[in-house]
Amino acid sequence: MKNGTVAKDRPVLSLSKVSKRFGGVVAANEVTFDLYAGEVFGLIGPNGAGKTTLINLITGVTPADEGEITLQGRNITQLPTHTRAKLGIVRTFQHPRILDRCDVYTNLAVGADLAGRRRVSSRNGREDRLEQLLDLAGLTEINLNDSIDKLSYGQQKLLEVVRAMLSQPLVLLLDEPAAGLNRAEMDHVVKLIKLATQENIAVLLIEHAMDLVMNNCHRVTVLNFGQQIATGTPEEVQSDPEVIRAYLGGAAHAAR
Ligand SMILES: Nc1ncnc2c1ncn2[C@@H]1O[C@H](COP(=O)(O)OP(=O)(O)OP(=O)(O)O)[C@@H](O)[C@H]1O
Ligand SMILES: [Mg+2]
Repeated sequence: MKNGTVAKDRPVLSLSKVSKRFGGVVAANEVTFDLYAGEVFGLIGPNGAGKTTLINLITGVTPADEGEITLQGRNITQLPTHTRAKLGIVRTFQHPRILDRCDVYTNLAVGADLAGRRRVSSRNGREDRLEQLLDLAGLTEINLNDSIDKLSYGQQKLLEVVRAMLSQPLVLLLDEPAAGLNRAEMDHVVKLIKLATQENIAVLLIEHAMDLVMNNCHRVTVLNFGQQIATGTPEEVQSDPEVIRAYLGGAAHAAR
């Protein structure tokens, strides 16, 4: 995936000096990066570094204190969340957000519908697209009429990625899609991300699973206390002394 060509002519999403404070906590400090079509851009850093906050700022759930966010050159910094979703910014959640007591199909349809770009068609006329996504997610065996509660945690998280992909976004924001998943489920996450890049979707990937980040991201930025301490290729950030001190040393230690 990393070897795929990424069109660098114009970024799909740009953050310019985006800042956010919660009281005395600096969750984002002049965060600046460009995200290109077909690119997987990793966002890593210790717990509380401000990664999820950044997704909230991009989707508009959290208003930025300062800075500018543009989508395909259009300033979206002040736009409401639903408008940004309609424009093609779609996310998944760190902990799956599902409509419990509803069936799988309703969960998929609501998500795709909320994004407003592409609907799942009628219950009977299930699309090739849905089949393709469920296949990549390893979810072909599930019954769409079953209650969502019947799915395992990992399956629910994979289904969230499927739901996000159904809407054919411009920008896909993945908040720790592999956390809590087993190895086989993680492989399915990778397959879905690969399809996203093939479809020229710009992917922002938050993950603590370093092999997943390092093997699948074109570029990575590292946050620490809301501050970008390094941005570069996976190789560059992995060997950056400050990154090792602030994060990777600890992560490697925690993994032992
Ligand atoms: N709505 C909020 N109100 C107050 N503080 C918040 C809010 N959201 C986030 N924070 C604080 O901002 C900082 C960044 O939090 P955030 O959830 O973005 O971190 P994270 O990098 O996603 O961490 P993790 O890896 O644990 O998911 C933390 O100190 C957090 O407590
Ligand atoms: Mg988080």
